[in-house]
Amino acid sequence: MKHADIIQTLDLEQKCALLSGGTVFDTRTLPGKGIPSITLSDGPNGVRKQAGAADHLGLNPSVPATCFPTSATVANSWDPALGEAVGEAMGEEAAAQEVSVLLGPGLNIKRSPLCGRNFEYFSEDPYLAGKMAAGYVRGIQKNGIAACPKHFAVNSQELRRMASDSVVDERTLRELYLTGFEIVVKEAKPKTIMSSYNLVNGTYANENAHLLQDILRRDWGFDGAVVTDWGGSNDHALGVKNGSTLEMPFPGDDSVRELMKAVESGKISEHDVDARLDELLELVFDTKAAVEKAPRTFDAAAHHALARRAAAQSIVLLRNEGALLPLKKGEKIAVLGDFARTPRYQGAGSSAVNSIQVDSFLDCLTESGLTNVGYAQGFDRQGKADEDLKKEAVALAQNANVVLLCMGLDEIKESEGLDRMDMKLAQNQLDLLAAVAAVNPNVVVLLSAGSSLETPWLKDCKALVYGCLGGQAGAGALVDVLTGTVCPGGKLAETWANAYSDSPVKDHFAGEGRTVQYREGLYVGYRYFETAGRPVAFPFGYGLSYTTFAYKDLKATPEGVTLTVTNTGKCAGAEVVQLYVAKPDAKVFRPAQELKGFAKVWLEAGESKTVSIPLDDKAYRYWNVATDSWEVEGGSYQLRVGASSADIRLTAEVVVLGSGAPDPYQSVDLPHYRTGEITRVPDAEFAALLGRPIPEDKIRIDRNMTLGELGHGRSPLGWLVAAVLGLLLKRSIQRGKPDLNILFQYNMPLRALAKMTNGAISMGMVDGIVMEAQGFWIIGLLRVIVEAVKNIAQNGAMEKRLKNS
Ligand code: BGC
Repeated sequence: MKHADIIQTLDLEQKCALLSGGTVFDTRTLPGKGIPSITLSDGPNGVRKQAGAADHLGLNPSVPATCFPTSATVANSWDPALGEAVGEAMGEEAAAQEVSVLLGPGLNIKRSPLCGRNFEYFSEDPYLAGKMAAGYVRGIQKNGIAACPKHFAVNSQELRRMASDSVVDERTLRELYLTGFEIVVKEAKPKTIMSSYNLVNGTYANENAHLLQDILRRDWGFDGAVVTDWGGSNDHALGVKNGSTLEMPFPGDDSVRELMKAVESGKISEHDVDARLDELLELVFDTKAAVEKAPRTFDAAAHHALARRAAAQSIVLLRNEGALLPLKKGEKIAVLGDFARTPRYQGAGSSAVNSIQVDSFLDCLTESGLTNVGYAQGFDRQGKADEDLKKEAVALAQNANVVLLCMGLDEIKESEGLDRMDMKLAQNQLDLLAAVAAVNPNVVVLLSAGSSLETPWLKDCKALVYGCLGGQAGAGALVDVLTGTVCPGGKLAETWANAYSDSPVKDHFAGEGRTVQYREGLYVGYRYFETAGRPVAFPFGYGLSYTTFAYKDLKATPEGVTLTVTNTGKCAGAEVVQLYVAKPDAKVFRPAQELKGFAKVWLEAGESKTVSIPLDDKAYRYWNVATDSWEVEGGSYQLRVGASSADIRLTAEVVVLGSGAPDPYQSVDLPHYRTGEITRVPDAEFAALLGRPIPEDKIRIDRNMTLGELGHGRSPLGWLVAAVLGLLLKRSIQRGKPDLNILFQYNMPLRALAKMTNGAISMGMVDGIVMEAQGFWIIGLLRVIVEAVKNIAQNGAMEKRLKNS
């Protein structure tokens, strides 16, 4: 232990107190023992330090900081070095604001296009997500502070996020949902990691020994601090025993007593507490020193310029009929769409940054050299039909050679806490597009949205520029691409399906129940579409350029490939060369091909370069559920090099030595998983894949019943609470402005009351509420009252002792 000297001076109460937060974003301090507190702040695309009233949903204001493009955006650059530069700048701002732990990046797998937080995540592919996240972590930690990759793990939906059980087979868990985290932990050594709210196969992620001990700490060698998501601690003692270091936010002193009781009763050992404390103290001393040394200012203009560069490198050109783009100097343009004046540039929730400055597309156009004949709002942002706005825009469109139409999802469509209802743009925007296309054939759509959309309207535009959510400088980046100052080189980090109805997870995503069946197994995103042979709108890895690239001279060994890439067009540009591994004759079923390497190469017009893409230990492996380890199936593999997952330019064969393990599925009937046709997997087959019966999905009246579920209890008071919350929520959704606070409460389990009320409610009081819901009204109520009195008395005494220590 690194800090045994301090630990031995602490009594059990002091030790336990240090393992939970002191405020919403600060750890506890014991000044008498020389232990300072540190600050943790969101987040993934800029610092959200709340100097005043703090909350974990981004509701109250925070100190101004640079709002960088969201992770979903920068992922489209396929450039971990760019991620590292962004991370470094965010880390610098964090350190300047005395933040020790920056709560990001988020790298959950985009299992469904509808997850409300997809804008915060990198990709549907774990290799790309892991590599990008590793870049961010390296950059953030260059400042001596800690990054905090999140949310570990299998947290791919927002509905019931604090009380949903992700039911997933071990192979899919390892290959899809954990590989990105493995890459970031092994390659970038984050000092902390955030456990997710949900359960994984029946056990809360934060107290899941399999995740935290077996895999994270033992297999991957993580020796840092595991931080709970805010209110994500279920049983703090089990968390500590199984590898979770710090419970956040301040849960009240009841949590300290809970931990002490667990030690005293032998449920956990004091050694467990000491081990976690050692991790915490290391984090505190190490990052505190870095923060103290860091300058209190940073170059905001330089960070703005970096944010613009990052956004520009991440723009994906999805369509460019007749080479309409780039626009020539002086081109007569009309600008339409509300997003041109008020950009949509980040998502809602805990990641929302109070931006230092926000550029608008309209303002940025003044420096573009284009001739702007005017601007019209065109549509109501929240989707209300408005004929006058449409008419005005159509009239303006007739006066220009090219129409730049800024469309996108409005602020509330993509938010933490809330999954999207569909993959559609608002109808009033589509009506405008159709009307404009009828009077002007040269329509360029500039799209702001943090996740994939259906594009049946593609025919109505000649060019489609996808800026994703480009951060505070994203508007300028769009202008750079339109004018050709920047040649677009971004590629999609997620598949764009033709329609949500094609999604492989649609029947098992965001259900109302307690369990979420990951029935599709490995077949998420392109892994499904390509194996099952389903067409898509835009494949994974797709993106156009103003130039063209030729691939030749592929040389391959099992350790990697080299090839020559030539820029065959007229302008300089970057190409993302992708390497997919396939085994068409595989005995152990697997997706048709999987991304195992990529390289971004910058080429002047006419220039050729030799590109090397190494393959690592993850290239051929699969998780064998019989041997419970990574194995390699021997034989020949195809190494496919392409410009997207659907545009393979060169293929080579290599022979790989296998590890000789038997096929774990030899005598298991898995016909759908063998073909990838997984949209109709019967129960028995999913159970066979799981290796156990599918867990029952029923509401139980216990600490983990959500407030919204109280309607299923036996307490009239509970019914009332559920009904009122439900009504408020429904109303706010109908108004087009879902109330994130109410939403959070509606989906919050009862036990979180004891974790998120600053100590006002104890777990004993929660147990009283549970009794109440079970129908023991009088005893339940009495218990709540007795426990409340006890809580107040004990808290007062404990705080006094801790203050004096
Ligand atoms: C989010 C985390 C965030 C935390 C603190 C939670 O609601 O899930 O991603 O870091 O709040 O704001």
